[in-house]
Amino acid sequence: MSADFPRSLLMTGGCGFIGSNFVRFWLSRFPLSTVVVYDLLTYAGRRENLGELWGHPQLHFVLGDITDLERVRQTCHEYAIDLIVNFAAETHVDQSIARPLVFTETNVRGTHVLLEVARELGIRLHQVSTDEVYGHVPEPQQRSEDDALWPRSPYAASKAAADQLAQAYFITYGLAVTTTRGSNTVGPYQHPEKAVPLFSTNALLGQQLPIYGDGLQQRDYVHVHDHCAGIEAVLLRGTAGEIYNVGTGQDITNLEMVDVILGTLGKDRCLIEHVTDRPGHDRRYSLNVSKLHALGWAAQYTCQQAIAETARWYAGHAEWWQPIRNGTFRQYYQEHYGQRLPDTDL
Ligand code: TYD
Repeated sequence: MSADFPRSLLMTGGCGFIGSNFVRFWLSRFPLSTVVVYDLLTYAGRRENLGELWGHPQLHFVLGDITDLERVRQTCHEYAIDLIVNFAAETHVDQSIARPLVFTETNVRGTHVLLEVARELGIRLHQVSTDEVYGHVPEPQQRSEDDALWPRSPYAASKAAADQLAQAYFITYGLAVTTTRGSNTVGPYQHPEKAVPLFSTNALLGQQLPIYGDGLQQRDYVHVHDHCAGIEAVLLRGTAGEIYNVGTGQDITNLEMVDVILGTLGKDRCLIEHVTDRPGHDRRYSLNVSKLHALGWAAQYTCQQAIAETARWYAGHAEWWQPIRNGTFRQYYQEHYGQRLPDTDL
């Protein structure tokens, strides 16, 4: 390991979807580095997401909130952290429309607290962000890292604010900050509030698939394994102060995404139900990923392969998602989809 190779990493949100996949990815690549998962275990952060990793000699867990400066500071001291990777966030657009303030609190103030601790201790911070900060991207354009930010949902606005705080810390204090902006990520352990796991589990249960509006919105679906490899490339070879898009560089419509799910699971298209659209729904996201390619990274999965692989994972892991669907998610589903799917048994 070189002198600046991260040895002790604080992975905030390490029990969440991308976070837990990254913990698994990182420990398989660098089993001698220390990984401290710092997570509040809210609804999408689950101990189960780390599965077989509990008991790994290099894995430590701290129950904590990223807005709690004292606890973050103390954890960084205790484990001699030399890199913070911030996966902790509220991430679901629909939730941000229903209860926006918690997004500002966690995504903006939480990131700010982490930046402050990183500044105080003189350690590096990597911010895990999203393509949603660019807002709707008209065809045939793609967004590059230097393009203007036009966030359009409370979620996207909170992530854009966090990105800009991170850049401000690089410019003002010279803090070693890097940022990745990932596209729609799919794979194991994603909470079923998001489209691909929601549609996969609904299809497996024989329930309607609620497609917002005409279903012609476009997204770039990247497999979480590729997303993790992209973050790794930036951690190992990225430049401080730089931002890197992570995605396949392609985009497909929601109806194409649903067809892949239904085809993979052998289910009928009659399950498709067009429902009332999401307010302010971004029509299209599309990323230029050439900057990350220049670091030697390339996506291994196409959008279609990533979605099919994910649908298969949900088909084989009902023991993971059934308890979630039977828990508090049931109430959210009722509140959010009850009006949209009035004739369906929720
Ligand atoms: P989502 O997974 O929520 O990601 P994002 O909104 O951040 O892109 O949704 C992906 C796409 O699927 C998006 O265009 C919204 C759409 N969608 C539906 O049509 N129905 C749904 O019930 C959900 C959750 C999403």
